[in-house]
Amino acid sequence: MYRILAKTTLTPVTTEYLIEAPEVAHQAKAGQFVVLRVHEQGERIPLTIADYDREAGTITVVAQEIGSSTLRLKSLEVGDSLASFTGPLGRPTEIEPDGTVILVGGGLGIAPIYPICRTLREAGNHVIAIIGARSGDLLFWEDKMRDVTDELIVVTDDGSYARKALVTEPLKELLDSGRKIDRVWGIGPAIMMKFVALTTKSYGVDTLVSLNSIMVDGTGMCGACRVAVGGRTFFACVDGPEFDGHQVDWDLLLSRQRFYVQEEQRALELYQQSLQQAEPEETSRS
Ligand SMILES: Cc1cc2nc3c(=O)[nH]c(=O)nc-3n(C[C@H](O)[C@H](O)[C@H](O)COP(=O)(O)OP(=O)(O)OC[C@H]3O[C@@H](n4cnc5c(N)ncnc54)[C@H](O)[C@@H]3O)c2cc1C
Ligand code: FES
Repeated sequence: MYRILAKTTLTPVTTEYLIEAPEVAHQAKAGQFVVLRVHEQGERIPLTIADYDREAGTITVVAQEIGSSTLRLKSLEVGDSLASFTGPLGRPTEIEPDGTVILVGGGLGIAPIYPICRTLREAGNHVIAIIGARSGDLLFWEDKMRDVTDELIVVTDDGSYARKALVTEPLKELLDSGRKIDRVWGIGPAIMMKFVALTTKSYGVDTLVSLNSIMVDGTGMCGACRVAVGGRTFFACVDGPEFDGHQVDWDLLLSRQRFYVQEEQRALELYQQSLQQAEPEETSRS
């Protein structure tokens, strides 16, 4: 169970995994996530369901290697199994025939917006997506995104590929163009989502963001994922992860995301040490 059926390197720091998980795939909807453990003693990490195939019984996740757990995940090979793979968790995106919608995916946020674009388009919306990354080598899924959108705008911060701009620049141009925009989604790093929400606020366009607060159980029991939205406290794992971007307390979210930085750094060092210790053993065996 939870076998890795395929593994694809998308960028120097991002990997796509196709996981055998028929029960999760059967119920998965756009906007939801899974919590997985790489091995029995491993920490639980939340990853968005980037795609699902109910007939094949598979889930696609895309992970950015930023710490010990995502690096351990990267070390697994096709045919290896995950220790656990719980989901689908969280509320699915509410899909309505709104009219014209814009989805902004920054960096890793391209993966979560993919199934939302597809489902919104199937519901009859005119779907415009803006995808961006710091540089061209960090962009992925451009062709896949073209298949599920009516208009696709690609930008990079440094101009090394496509248009040189931050994702908020074409967003503002679209809002200024006079076209009726019914709803906007912004998914990516918290700071990017904050600026997407700030950009749309003065235009009065409903804006949803997917909050990536620290999660542990993913089922509303531990309180780790607490967020403040509109002056009220919510648990992102069960009440979200999507919330009204104009109401989010971004400063609180950003400070809580940095809460365990020292522990995360220590876990990364331990993982790197374990790799160094394993190397001489492998050399002596060969
Ligand atoms: C609903 C949700 C969906 C997510 N979807 C994706 C995705 O599709 N792809 C992806 O690469 N990442 C996703 N993330 C973030 C991902 O969970 C973290 O990058 C991962 O847990 C980092 O673990 P690590 O041990 O490799 O790094 P660490 O060194 O432990 O952490 C690095 C940083 O990752 C974040 N983080 C760490 N632990 C958690 C945790 N338990 N929950 C949330 N954030 C954490 C913190 O900001 C931390 O500073 C998602 C997070 C949430 C809440
Ligand atoms: S992750 Fe524990 S309550 Fe949300």
